[in-house]
Amino acid sequence: MGSFHGEIAEAGYPKIYSFKIGSKDRPTSFVQDHSRRGGGLGASNRLFRRGYMIKDQMNKIYGNMDLDDIPWNIETPPAILQDLIKSNKLSPCKIIELGCGTGNYVRYFSKMGFDATGVDISEKAIEIAKKLAQKSGVQCKFIVADVLGNMSSMKCKYDFVYDWELLHHVFPEDRNKYIENIYRLVKTQGRYLSVSFSEASTQFGGVGKYRKTPIGTVLYFTNEAEIESLFGRFFYFEELKSVDIKGKHGVHKAVYALVRPKNG
Ligand SMILES: C[S@@+](CC[C@H](N)C(=O)[O-])C[C@H]1O[C@@H](n2cnc3c(N)ncnc32)[C@H](O)[C@@H]1O
Repeated sequence: MGSFHGEIAEAGYPKIYSFKIGSKDRPTSFVQDHSRRGGGLGASNRLFRRGYMIKDQMNKIYGNMDLDDIPWNIETPPAILQDLIKSNKLSPCKIIELGCGTGNYVRYFSKMGFDATGVDISEKAIEIAKKLAQKSGVQCKFIVADVLGNMSSMKCKYDFVYDWELLHHVFPEDRNKYIENIYRLVKTQGRYLSVSFSEASTQFGGVGKYRKTPIGTVLYFTNEAEIESLFGRFFYFEELKSVDIKGKHGVHKAVYALVRPKNG
Protein backbone atom coordinates (compact mmCIF):
# COMPACT_ATOMS: atom_id res chain seq x y z
CA MET A 1 0.00 0.00 0.00
CA GLY A 2 1.41 3.40 -0.92
CA SER A 3 1.89 6.21 1.52
CA PHE A 4 0.74 9.81 1.51
CA HIS A 5 3.30 12.48 0.96
CA GLY A 6 3.18 15.70 2.92
CA GLU A 7 2.89 19.15 1.43
CA ILE A 8 5.08 19.47 -1.61
CA ALA A 9 5.93 22.90 -2.89
CA GLU A 10 6.19 22.44 -6.62
CA ALA A 11 7.49 25.29 -8.74
CA GLY A 12 4.73 27.25 -10.39
CA TYR A 13 1.81 25.95 -8.34
CA PRO A 14 -0.18 28.42 -6.30
CA LYS A 15 -0.40 27.11 -2.75
CA ILE A 16 -3.63 28.86 -1.90
CA TYR A 17 -5.55 25.80 -0.90
CA SER A 18 -4.56 22.94 1.29
CA PHE A 19 -5.96 20.17 3.43
CA LYS A 20 -4.18 18.82 6.48
CA ILE A 21 -4.33 15.07 6.83
CA GLY A 22 -6.09 14.44 10.11
CA SER A 23 -7.91 17.81 10.07
CA LYS A 24 -11.67 18.03 9.70
CA ASP A 25 -11.21 18.66 5.95
CA ARG A 26 -9.48 15.33 5.50
CA PRO A 27 -9.98 13.19 8.59
CA THR A 28 -7.38 10.65 9.62
CA SER A 29 -9.95 7.89 9.08
CA PHE A 30 -9.98 8.80 5.40
CA VAL A 31 -6.33 7.85 5.24
CA GLN A 32 -6.86 4.74 7.36
CA ASP A 33 -9.56 3.49 4.99
CA HIS A 34 -6.78 2.41 2.65
CA SER A 35 -5.22 0.05 5.13
CA ARG A 36 -8.39 -1.07 6.92
CA ARG A 37 -10.36 -1.99 3.85
CA GLY A 38 -13.59 -3.66 4.84
CA GLY A 39 -13.21 -2.67 8.52
CA GLY A 40 -15.74 -0.38 10.19
CA LEU A 41 -17.87 1.35 7.56
CA GLY A 42 -19.65 -0.60 4.84
CA ALA A 43 -18.51 -0.13 1.24
CA SER A 44 -21.44 2.10 0.25
CA ASN A 45 -20.97 4.32 3.31
CA ARG A 46 -17.27 4.69 2.56
CA LEU A 47 -18.08 5.59 -1.03
CA PHE A 48 -20.67 8.10 0.10
CA ARG A 49 -18.26 9.75 2.51
CA ARG A 50 -15.37 9.87 0.04
CA GLY A 51 -17.72 11.18 -2.66
CA TYR A 52 -18.88 13.89 -0.29
CA MET A 53 -15.30 14.90 0.48
CA ILE A 54 -14.12 15.09 -3.13
CA LYS A 55 -17.25 17.05 -4.04
CA ASP A 56 -16.58 19.53 -1.24
CA GLN A 57 -12.90 19.81 -2.15
CA MET A 58 -13.63 20.31 -5.85
CA ASN A 59 -16.39 22.83 -5.15
CA LYS A 60 -13.86 24.86 -3.13
CA ILE A 61 -11.26 24.63 -5.90
CA TYR A 62 -13.70 25.65 -8.68
CA GLY A 63 -15.42 28.20 -6.43
CA ASN A 64 -12.34 29.91 -4.99
CA MET A 65 -9.56 29.58 -7.52
CA ASP A 66 -9.09 31.60 -10.66
CA LEU A 67 -9.61 29.21 -13.62
CA ASP A 68 -6.09 30.08 -14.83
CA ASP A 69 -4.65 28.83 -11.52
CA ILE A 70 -6.42 25.44 -11.59
CA PRO A 71 -3.55 23.21 -12.77
CA TRP A 72 -5.59 20.96 -15.08
CA ASN A 73 -7.91 23.61 -16.50
CA ILE A 74 -6.55 24.09 -20.02
CA GLU A 75 -8.91 25.39 -22.65
CA THR A 76 -7.14 23.90 -25.67
CA PRO A 77 -7.83 20.16 -25.86
CA PRO A 78 -4.80 17.90 -25.53
CA ALA A 79 -3.19 16.72 -28.78
CA ILE A 80 -4.24 13.14 -27.91
CA LEU A 81 -7.94 14.06 -28.02
CA GLN A 82 -7.56 16.19 -31.15
CA ASP A 83 -5.64 13.38 -32.85
CA LEU A 84 -8.55 10.97 -32.35
CA ILE A 85 -10.55 13.11 -34.77
CA LYS A 86 -7.68 14.05 -37.08
CA SER A 87 -6.72 10.38 -37.52
CA ASN A 88 -10.36 9.37 -38.13
CA LYS A 89 -10.32 7.07 -35.10
CA LEU A 90 -13.34 9.00 -33.88
CA SER A 91 -16.02 10.75 -35.87
CA PRO A 92 -19.12 12.64 -34.69
CA CYS A 93 -21.20 10.46 -32.38
CA LYS A 94 -22.79 10.47 -28.93
CA ILE A 95 -20.03 11.11 -26.44
CA ILE A 96 -19.66 11.68 -22.69
CA GLU A 97 -16.75 12.95 -20.59
CA LEU A 98 -16.63 11.69 -17.01
CA GLY A 99 -15.07 14.25 -14.66
CA CYS A 100 -15.38 17.04 -17.24
CA GLY A 101 -14.47 19.96 -14.96
CA THR A 102 -15.36 23.22 -16.65
CA GLY A 103 -16.20 21.40 -19.87
CA ASN A 104 -13.36 22.61 -22.11
CA TYR A 105 -13.18 19.34 -24.05
CA VAL A 106 -16.94 18.83 -24.09
CA ARG A 107 -17.24 22.21 -25.83
CA TYR A 108 -14.46 21.19 -28.22
CA PHE A 109 -16.22 17.95 -29.21
CA SER A 110 -19.53 19.79 -29.61
CA LYS A 111 -17.88 22.29 -31.93
CA MET A 112 -16.52 19.35 -33.92
CA GLY A 113 -20.06 18.04 -34.49
CA PHE A 114 -20.40 15.54 -31.61
CA ASP A 115 -23.49 15.18 -29.42
CA ALA A 116 -21.47 15.83 -26.27
CA THR A 117 -22.28 15.58 -22.57
CA GLY A 118 -20.09 16.27 -19.53
CA VAL A 119 -20.47 14.88 -16.02
CA ASP A 120 -18.78 16.14 -12.88
CA ILE A 121 -19.28 15.66 -9.15
CA SER A 122 -18.76 19.38 -8.52
CA GLU A 123 -21.81 21.62 -8.89
CA LYS A 124 -19.44 24.60 -9.16
CA ALA A 125 -17.59 23.02 -12.08
CA ILE A 126 -20.84 22.29 -13.88
CA GLU A 127 -22.15 25.80 -13.19
CA ILE A 128 -19.01 27.23 -14.82
CA ALA A 129 -19.19 24.68 -17.67
CA LYS A 130 -22.77 25.70 -18.47
CA LYS A 131 -21.89 29.41 -18.45
CA LEU A 132 -18.86 28.91 -20.69
CA ALA A 133 -20.87 26.82 -23.16
CA GLN A 134 -23.62 29.44 -23.25
CA LYS A 135 -21.06 32.21 -23.71
CA SER A 136 -19.47 30.46 -26.66
CA GLY A 137 -22.83 29.52 -28.18
CA VAL A 138 -22.07 25.79 -28.04
CA GLN A 139 -24.84 23.23 -27.58
CA CYS A 140 -23.83 20.58 -25.06
CA LYS A 141 -25.22 18.97 -21.92
CA PHE A 142 -23.81 18.99 -18.43
CA ILE A 143 -24.85 16.79 -15.52
CA VAL A 144 -23.83 16.82 -11.85
CA ALA A 145 -23.19 13.21 -10.86
CA ASP A 146 -20.76 11.05 -8.90
CA VAL A 147 -19.27 8.49 -11.28
CA LEU A 148 -18.82 6.19 -8.28
CA GLY A 149 -22.45 6.51 -7.28
CA ASN A 150 -25.60 4.92 -8.54
CA MET A 151 -25.73 6.11 -12.13
CA SER A 152 -28.67 3.89 -13.03
CA SER A 153 -30.84 6.99 -13.52
CA MET A 154 -28.65 7.81 -16.53
CA LYS A 155 -30.45 5.70 -19.11
CA CYS A 156 -28.50 6.92 -22.16
CA LYS A 157 -25.78 4.84 -23.74
CA TYR A 158 -22.84 6.44 -25.51
CA ASP A 159 -20.67 5.57 -28.52
CA PHE A 160 -17.65 7.03 -26.80
CA VAL A 161 -17.07 7.48 -23.08
CA TYR A 162 -13.83 9.04 -21.87
CA ASP A 163 -12.11 10.40 -18.83
CA TRP A 164 -9.27 12.84 -19.06
CA GLU A 165 -7.37 12.78 -15.76
CA LEU A 166 -10.31 11.50 -13.69
CA LEU A 167 -9.22 7.93 -13.01
CA HIS A 168 -6.34 9.02 -10.76
CA HIS A 169 -9.00 10.49 -8.43
CA VAL A 170 -10.60 7.04 -8.13
CA PHE A 171 -8.90 4.89 -5.50
CA PRO A 172 -8.45 1.13 -5.99
CA GLU A 173 -11.26 0.10 -3.64
CA ASP A 174 -13.72 2.24 -5.65
CA ARG A 175 -12.64 1.15 -9.10
CA ASN A 176 -14.98 -1.82 -9.49
CA LYS A 177 -17.95 0.51 -9.07
CA TYR A 178 -16.42 2.85 -11.64
CA ILE A 179 -15.94 0.02 -14.16
CA GLU A 180 -19.53 -1.10 -13.56
CA ASN A 181 -20.78 2.41 -14.34
CA ILE A 182 -18.66 2.74 -17.47
CA TYR A 183 -19.82 -0.65 -18.68
CA ARG A 184 -23.41 0.51 -18.28
CA LEU A 185 -22.76 3.79 -20.16
CA VAL A 186 -20.87 2.41 -23.19
CA LYS A 187 -22.87 1.02 -26.12
CA THR A 188 -22.05 -2.60 -27.01
CA GLN A 189 -20.17 -1.36 -30.07
CA GLY A 190 -18.86 1.70 -28.24
CA ARG A 191 -15.46 2.53 -26.77
CA TYR A 192 -14.00 3.95 -23.60
CA LEU A 193 -10.80 5.97 -23.28
CA SER A 194 -8.98 6.61 -20.04
CA VAL A 195 -5.92 8.80 -19.59
CA SER A 196 -4.60 9.02 -16.03
CA PHE A 197 -1.31 9.72 -14.29
CA SER A 198 1.36 7.03 -14.35
CA GLU A 199 3.68 6.00 -11.53
CA ALA A 200 6.50 6.96 -13.91
CA SER A 201 5.54 10.63 -13.44
CA THR A 202 8.10 12.65 -11.56
CA GLN A 203 5.56 15.09 -10.15
CA PHE A 204 4.25 15.45 -6.61
CA GLY A 205 7.15 13.80 -4.83
CA GLY A 206 8.07 11.56 -7.75
CA VAL A 207 7.43 8.24 -5.98
CA GLY A 208 4.52 6.35 -4.46
CA LYS A 209 1.08 5.23 -5.54
CA TYR A 210 -0.69 7.96 -3.54
CA ARG A 211 0.64 11.47 -3.95
CA LYS A 212 -0.65 14.73 -2.56
CA THR A 213 -0.66 17.71 -4.88
CA PRO A 214 0.11 21.29 -3.88
CA ILE A 215 -3.60 22.16 -4.08
CA GLY A 216 -4.49 19.42 -1.63
CA THR A 217 -5.89 16.69 -3.86
CA VAL A 218 -4.66 13.14 -3.27
CA LEU A 219 -4.16 11.13 -6.45
CA TYR A 220 -3.56 7.44 -7.12
CA PHE A 221 -0.85 6.80 -9.71
CA THR A 222 -1.11 3.75 -11.93
CA ASN A 223 0.81 1.62 -14.42
CA GLU A 224 -0.07 -0.32 -17.59
CA ALA A 225 -0.26 -3.74 -15.87
CA GLU A 226 -2.70 -2.41 -13.29
CA ILE A 227 -4.93 -0.86 -15.97
CA GLU A 228 -4.81 -4.10 -17.95
CA SER A 229 -6.06 -6.14 -15.01
CA LEU A 230 -8.63 -3.48 -14.04
CA PHE A 231 -10.36 -3.35 -17.43
CA GLY A 232 -9.41 -6.77 -18.76
CA ARG A 233 -12.37 -8.66 -17.30
CA PHE A 234 -14.98 -6.62 -19.15
CA PHE A 235 -13.16 -4.91 -22.02
CA TYR A 236 -10.85 -5.72 -24.92
CA PHE A 237 -7.89 -3.42 -25.36
CA GLU A 238 -7.61 -1.55 -28.63
CA GLU A 239 -4.62 0.37 -27.31
CA LEU A 240 -2.72 0.40 -24.03
CA LYS A 241 0.35 2.59 -23.84
CA SER A 242 2.30 5.15 -21.85
CA VAL A 243 2.07 8.70 -23.11
CA ASP A 244 3.35 12.16 -22.25
CA ILE A 245 0.70 14.78 -21.57
CA LYS A 246 1.38 18.47 -21.32
CA GLY A 247 0.25 20.09 -18.09
CA LYS A 248 0.43 23.75 -17.07
CA HIS A 249 3.53 23.03 -15.00
CA GLY A 250 5.33 20.43 -17.08
CA VAL A 251 4.91 17.11 -18.82
CA HIS A 252 3.19 14.22 -17.01
CA LYS A 253 3.61 10.55 -17.81
CA ALA A 254 0.20 8.94 -18.20
CA VAL A 255 -1.37 5.60 -19.04
CA TYR A 256 -3.63 5.66 -22.09
CA ALA A 257 -6.21 2.87 -22.47
CA LEU A 258 -8.70 2.62 -25.33
CA VAL A 259 -11.08 -0.31 -24.81
CA ARG A 260 -14.23 -1.98 -26.16
CA PRO A 261 -16.80 -3.93 -24.12
CA LYS A 262 -16.27 -7.68 -24.35
CA ASN A 263 -19.85 -8.40 -25.31
CA GLY A 264 -19.53 -6.01 -28.29
C1 LIG B 1 -8.14 16.64 -12.81
S1 LIG B 1 -9.79 17.19 -13.05
C2 LIG B 1 -9.96 17.02 -14.81
C3 LIG B 1 -11.11 17.83 -15.38
C4 LIG B 1 -11.23 17.77 -16.89
N1 LIG B 1 -11.27 16.41 -17.36
C5 LIG B 1 -10.10 18.53 -17.52
O1 LIG B 1 -9.14 17.88 -17.95
O2 LIG B 1 -10.15 19.76 -17.52
C6 LIG B 1 -10.75 15.84 -12.43
C7 LIG B 1 -12.21 16.15 -12.41
O3 LIG B 1 -12.90 14.98 -11.99
C8 LIG B 1 -13.96 15.37 -11.12
N2 LIG B 1 -14.26 14.21 -10.26
C9 LIG B 1 -13.49 13.65 -9.30
N3 LIG B 1 -14.11 12.61 -8.73
C10 LIG B 1 -15.30 12.51 -9.35
C11 LIG B 1 -16.41 11.63 -9.21
N4 LIG B 1 -16.39 10.65 -8.29
N5 LIG B 1 -17.50 11.79 -10.01
C12 LIG B 1 -17.52 12.77 -10.94
N6 LIG B 1 -16.52 13.65 -11.12
C13 LIG B 1 -15.41 13.52 -10.33
C14 LIG B 1 -13.43 16.56 -10.37
O4 LIG B 1 -14.45 17.37 -9.84
C15 LIG B 1 -12.62 17.26 -11.45
O5 LIG B 1 -13.38 18.21 -12.14
